[in-house]
Amino acid sequence: MEALFKSIQKCDNIKDLERLRVEVFGKKGYFAAEFAKLKELEGDKKIAEAAKLNAEKEKFTELLNFQKTSLEKQENENILKKDAVDVSLYGNSMSAGALHPVMATMDKIIEYFVSLNFSVEDGPLVEDDFHNFEALNLPKFHPARDMQDTFYFKDNMLLRTHTSPVQVRTMLTKNPPIRMICPGAVFRPDFDLTHTPMFHQIEGLVVDKKGVVSFANLKSILEEFLRYMFGDVKVRFRPSFFPFTEPSAEVDISCIFCHGKGCRVCKNTGWLEVLGCGTVDQNVFNAVGYKNSSGYAFGLGIERFAMLLHRIPDLRSLFEGDLRLLEQFK
Ligand code: PHE
Repeated sequence: MEALFKSIQKCDNIKDLERLRVEVFGKKGYFAAEFAKLKELEGDKKIAEAAKLNAEKEKFTELLNFQKTSLEKQENENILKKDAVDVSLYGNSMSAGALHPVMATMDKIIEYFVSLNFSVEDGPLVEDDFHNFEALNLPKFHPARDMQDTFYFKDNMLLRTHTSPVQVRTMLTKNPPIRMICPGAVFRPDFDLTHTPMFHQIEGLVVDKKGVVSFANLKSILEEFLRYMFGDVKVRFRPSFFPFTEPSAEVDISCIFCHGKGCRVCKNTGWLEVLGCGTVDQNVFNAVGYKNSSGYAFGLGIERFAMLLHRIPDLRSLFEGDLRLLEQFK
């Protein structure tokens, strides 16, 4: 009997234990054989032997159950251990994306003008000669077309060289008063430190009855806008030429790097050119059929603003998709 008790302890899994139980209680097992022997006994001896066997059977069952419970417990613990999650381990983190600096700058500019009640207009990237040039006082063979090298398709179609055609489209479909900006991609075949064949502009246009909109209005709105973008800068208007505005000006801010003292970025002038603008040329109003109107327009390159705001020296790096640059704008 002792040997049987020991064999229970030797079972280290429930399967073996079950096998042992079947074996011991089975027809050919220990207890069947021992109870069979009772036939040969009689009287008190038989009773005593039967009582002893029953006690053994009870003890054996008890031990078996005890072993079973402790094996089950152990097996559960093993499963828990195996499936355990170490909450202190690093997870597979997903890195959050961010707006591209050009888009973030564009949003910031749009936000400003929307707060001044400008509408945001959109137009096609593939334009025709009329909307991109003719209606903007740039007839064919006009030398000023050279200011904007152009990607041409067949049949007078082209990739828009500025967002001004959106102004033309808006004026052709709406009557004054107009107060709009048009952000978007534009295209010119240039490629160097400060030029890429695709870049983004925002242009603005305000039109109302003759005499209502003046160059003074343009000046004040742009000065406020440039201080919103660049902080406490000086703003200067330089006479310039654009075919679609008369008079025209280019706008400079005092260099945000050297505060006007002169450095490499401002080429020692103390000024940075950031905008083109002017009051709308009468020929543009004629082309869209506006009579007795006055207006002003301005245009800026968004990449130039982003480069100045974030001190990015090479425009091309904005379009290389290098995560080391982009991750700095989270
Ligand atoms: N369309 C001009 C450009 O792309 C910018 C501009 C817009 C200048 C409006 C004056 C007025 O160069």
